[in-house]
Amino acid sequence: MDTKTLMEWSGKYHTPNYGRTPICLVRGDGVRVWDSDGREYLDFTSGLAVTSLGHCHPRVTGAIQEAAATLLHVSNIFHTAPQIHLAKLLCEHSFADRVFFGNSGAEANEAAIKLARKYGKERFASDRFEIIATRNSFHGRTLATVTATGQEKYQHGFEPLVPGFKHVPYDDLRAMERAMDNRTAAVLVEPIQGEGGVIVPDDDYLPGLRKLCDEAGALLVLDEIQTGMGRTGRLWAYEHTGVEPDIMTVAKALANGVPIGAMLAREEVASVLTPGTHGSTFGGTPFVTSVALATLATMIDEKIPERAARMGRYLTQALGRLQGGFPAVREVRGRGLLIGIEMDRLVAPLVDFCRDSGLLILTAGERVIRLAPPLIVGETECDHALDILQNALGQTRS
Ligand SMILES: Cc1ncc(COP(=O)(O)O)c(C=O)c1O
Repeated sequence: MDTKTLMEWSGKYHTPNYGRTPICLVRGDGVRVWDSDGREYLDFTSGLAVTSLGHCHPRVTGAIQEAAATLLHVSNIFHTAPQIHLAKLLCEHSFADRVFFGNSGAEANEAAIKLARKYGKERFASDRFEIIATRNSFHGRTLATVTATGQEKYQHGFEPLVPGFKHVPYDDLRAMERAMDNRTAAVLVEPIQGEGGVIVPDDDYLPGLRKLCDEAGALLVLDEIQTGMGRTGRLWAYEHTGVEPDIMTVAKALANGVPIGAMLAREEVASVLTPGTHGSTFGGTPFVTSVALATLATMIDEKIPERAARMGRYLTQALGRLQGGFPAVREVRGRGLLIGIEMDRLVAPLVDFCRDSGLLILTAGERVIRLAPPLIVGETECDHALDILQNALGQTRS
């Protein structure tokens, strides 16, 4: 099928909710993807921070093939070994004691919201159900998670939203303190705001939130859907802060591209999810959990988070040097391989120029370029991407 016909059919048959780049990707290998015209691209998007081990990583592909030929799906009314092994490995490598599996980030956050409400009501009082999230955050597209998301552009048209949510400015402990009261069930934040522009809070923000939650008897819920699985240079971004959450949500990179979401929680918190209170038909199938197990084991065995930290420093320092020659670049920020480049102008033309030059990059809002390459990226690929970016900055200079 030729590319032109594919584009026409895409325009005709899809719901028009995505603003898609006009290429059709057909194959991937490591840090590279190819389109239907045979053009090669460096993929610094990782499918929105998903394919952290790169495309078609041999251990992941092996796990997919083996699991597909063994047992694809059975209901959660039965035990399956891969799901148990994955839950155990996640608990051994995090603060958590218990894991619930769903299919996406939004679904993991839904589980966290439901758990926080149930815990608040059962442990404290029937009106203890409020969730305080932050402005500019992103937590998903289902009705409850889009309500938690602190950006009106994602909510517009879908009102009435879900009751019981409040928003305060990010990285503002005093605003959070003022908003909390004895109806606060949980505080829900991203350790770094990803979609919101790669906003890294002050070092004292998460410890401050932990203290406020402890004083108020509220739960601290960290959305690590984008920051988790090594992206920031530690397996979980909270590890940079010296404090732990009560609940954490993970998705994106957990199975390197096979859909999965997980909610991790402390024993005492998780205990209110008694049999029958929550569930998902597809959550944690033997297939997806086998793939996630291979992904997480590879991350741990091959010290991928350390690699992300090292390559993140390499890229950020090079971008810092680049910044000097381009006043349109306001700031380079981020942690590990989640990097934001804030510009004084709209970044869409830059993204187009990079794509036409063989580099795929993301945005985070209209004025921030977001780089989220696979965590296995090497210096040569970073240098190539930097050359393309430098040309793009030069071309779009006004
Ligand atoms: C921090 C964060 N939370 C939640 C989500 C929603 O995840 P999903 O699209 O898998 O539902 C995203 C997706 O970008 C995210 O970045």
